[in-house]
Amino acid sequence: MRGSLPTAILPQNETVSATPESTDPTSQPAPGSEPSGGRFLEGRVALVTGASRGIGRAIAERLAERGARVACIATRAENCAATVEACGDGARAFGVDVSDTDEVAAVVKAVQENLGGLDILVNNAGVTRDQILLRMSEEDFDRVVAVNLKGSWNFIRAAARPLMKSRGRIVNVSSVVGLTGNAGQANYAASKAGVIGLTKSVAKELASRGVCVNAVAPGFIETDMTADLPEAAAAELAASIPLKRIGTPAEVAHVVDYLVSPGGAYVTGQTIVVDGGLSL
Ligand SMILES: NC(=O)c1ccc[n+]([C@@H]2O[C@H](COP(=O)([O-])OP(=O)(O)OC[C@H]3O[C@@H](n4cnc5c(N)ncnc54)[C@H](OP(=O)(O)O)[C@@H]3O)[C@@H](O)[C@H]2O)c1
Repeated sequence: MRGSLPTAILPQNETVSATPESTDPTSQPAPGSEPSGGRFLEGRVALVTGASRGIGRAIAERLAERGARVACIATRAENCAATVEACGDGARAFGVDVSDTDEVAAVVKAVQENLGGLDILVNNAGVTRDQILLRMSEEDFDRVVAVNLKGSWNFIRAAARPLMKSRGRIVNVSSVVGLTGNAGQANYAASKAGVIGLTKSVAKELASRGVCVNAVAPGFIETDMTADLPEAAAAELAASIPLKRIGTPAEVAHVVDYLVSPGGAYVTGQTIVVDGGLSL
């Protein structure tokens, strides 16, 4: 199956043009370009990875509120049952390990067949395996990069053609530590810095096709991923944040909402930090 997968975003006779195909940027509507109030994603299909909980669930629910039919992805479809219920009609759950290139291609195909297209891709699935450098195993480094970075690339490559067709949007969830680095997170910070480079490169490649590609970089957000931090350490961290509190998944979802909205139509290749000032 691997051999049958496309090896490049564009076939050999197509080139990535530095100039737009059409001089009229409104010749084809981008997702959310219709002025239809709050439900600007009516009729659109959004795919959100890591949608079973935390930030991904908040993003999926937000996009559903905007009218999108949402494909909710987690390691197992049943993990997304609550999200699908909250998203309402049209939402579907799919299970896949985002690091598996062939399986991801199959899921993207299934999403298009089941939901009728693809307009928005949100690469949010992520894992941590924290350890100081001298104790970090090769397996822990490889796994975090495979899920966080290669997983995003897997979905982008598999979804590139339908997104070019719909002049869609891509949002990748990075992290502030991808910008600042963090002791004990060499694997995670490297993967999230990689997501920012991936975002900028794909933004340049797909701009001529009308696809905007951006990243969000959350700081410290209250989810299962950060739940292990002892209460005293969490309080100390919150005190060090200029806004003096930990963020919520909904606050990250609001920024994703903006990036896929009509207002985000001229924003591409950017990384928007959502951290209460932590990285200042
Ligand atoms: N929380 C923070 O403070 C924070 C800060 C900066 C960036 N981020 C980033 O934000 C994203 C979401 O974080 P979160 O805190 O919401 O995490 P979370 O609560 O731990 O949820 C992680 C999600 O990713 C999915 N996932 C993990 N590995 C997967 C795999 N191999 N294949 C498919 N799905 C997989 C999980 O699915 P299952 O339920 O099936 O396991 C779950 O839906 C991550 O990329 C994370 O790095 C988080």
